[in-house]
Amino acid sequence: MENREQWGSRAGFVLAAIGSAIGLGNIWRFPAVAYSNGGGSFFIPYLIALLTAGIPLLILEFTIGQKYRGSAPLSLGRISKKGEWLGWWQVLVSFFISTYYPIIVAWALSYTIFSFKLSWGNDTGSFFAKDYAQFGLVAPGQMGGIVWQVFIPLVIVWAVVFIILFKGVRKGIEKANKFFIPMLVILFTIIVIRAVTLDGASAGLEAFFKPDWSKIMDGSVWVAAYSQIFFSLSIAFGIMIAYASYLPRKSDITNNAFITGLSNSGFELLAGIGVFAALGFMAQAEGVSVDKVAAGGPNLVFVVLPKIINTLPAFQGVFGVLFFLSIIFAGLTSLISIVEAYVSAVQDKFNISRKKAIGYGAGISAIISIVYATKGGLYFLDNVDHFVNSYGIALAGLIEVVLIAWVFKKLGDLQNHANSMSDMRLGLWWKICLSIITPIVLGYMMIDSIIHDFKEPYSGYTWGFLSIGIACAVIALVAGIYLAALKWKKNLSEETQKEVS
Ligand code: ALA
Repeated sequence: MENREQWGSRAGFVLAAIGSAIGLGNIWRFPAVAYSNGGGSFFIPYLIALLTAGIPLLILEFTIGQKYRGSAPLSLGRISKKGEWLGWWQVLVSFFISTYYPIIVAWALSYTIFSFKLSWGNDTGSFFAKDYAQFGLVAPGQMGGIVWQVFIPLVIVWAVVFIILFKGVRKGIEKANKFFIPMLVILFTIIVIRAVTLDGASAGLEAFFKPDWSKIMDGSVWVAAYSQIFFSLSIAFGIMIAYASYLPRKSDITNNAFITGLSNSGFELLAGIGVFAALGFMAQAEGVSVDKVAAGGPNLVFVVLPKIINTLPAFQGVFGVLFFLSIIFAGLTSLISIVEAYVSAVQDKFNISRKKAIGYGAGISAIISIVYATKGGLYFLDNVDHFVNSYGIALAGLIEVVLIAWVFKKLGDLQNHANSMSDMRLGLWWKICLSIITPIVLGYMMIDSIIHDFKEPYSGYTWGFLSIGIACAVIALVAGIYLAALKWKKNLSEETQKEVS
């Protein structure tokens, strides 16, 4: 019998899954995406995406991991030999994401220290672009040398990731999440309470929640809702399959998926409230409307929020530290899961020790991540993130549901397995969501993204520069097919008999 590590408790697994889900996607992506796609009315496509794709896919991935007891390539390979490449593709998408995700955690680490003295000064935009990250000094596509004040925290972030992963699933990942996630919730709640009690907060919340019903029929709003759910729930990254592979043989699957999905959305809503309350405060302080200060991504976290912190009536430094620590905790728990997705795959396929798999897998990712610590790093990050995200996650998710539902015809088996383990029973709705609704929506999403990207180059970059991002997305797929063609060090089918019976 294979000796696969296991979570120490159900709470340990659920916290790790929630830790993977709650990340930068919740804090800097969701508030801006919701605001620019209809505010209050965005919650309808968002909830539909959560209930028709997010939670059903989470249940699917938990079931696959728990039943087939392997990383994404091993589990999908056990479902069918023709499924392994998809697992590799997904974990390679995670690999590329893990090259740039730590940079943002590294920035947050620097900003935690800057918070003590509000070192960003009054012109927070110029501080971020010119003094700190220095990307404002080069054109997109140029590297322009390493930025040491980014490189050093990057090394620290990787060191923490290595230590946690080296300690293993139970003593490393589970313990880290048991500490980071409750801390994150406490810190973030304090921030949100402070934000909603600031002058002007209500104007911010009104802007955030005011519905713009004209947007609801706009296809791009639905695309935004589904992409947000996929990224935020860490679906089609190979993560949730790997995490569920460490579950004991008898574990509730469906309930765990609901808890994870709803906690993630709850945190997302909390982040939206906190961010927009703070934006309302700043808009009032500057005497402008909320739409003039609304922002997302690095601009929100490293330019607008430091400005808001400057304007706070008291305890500026304390709130700075709390906020950037929240980004670090949310980011680290997601980063660990993103790396675990491919570490577990390498370990399974090549039958090597966990330490070696971490050394090779995370080691290579850490070396590549130095590119993003150069002056041109932010442009590379934006470019690679765009293509790997749009054509990695959504497309890999689309192929996952089509293969499992229509080609391998495994939905029925998986439904029976989940039902035999869980209190809550899956009915026909689950199969309809996965075999019909999700493929249609994701198919539409793909066509929409392709048309968009070919019509005008992303972010106004040159095609030469964009080819780097496109190459990363293509490499994930091609290398995935190649890795699937390599021989297993252990007998895949024999294990299948033993493990899945
Ligand atoms: N789910 C992770 C996030 O939201 C990747 O950042």
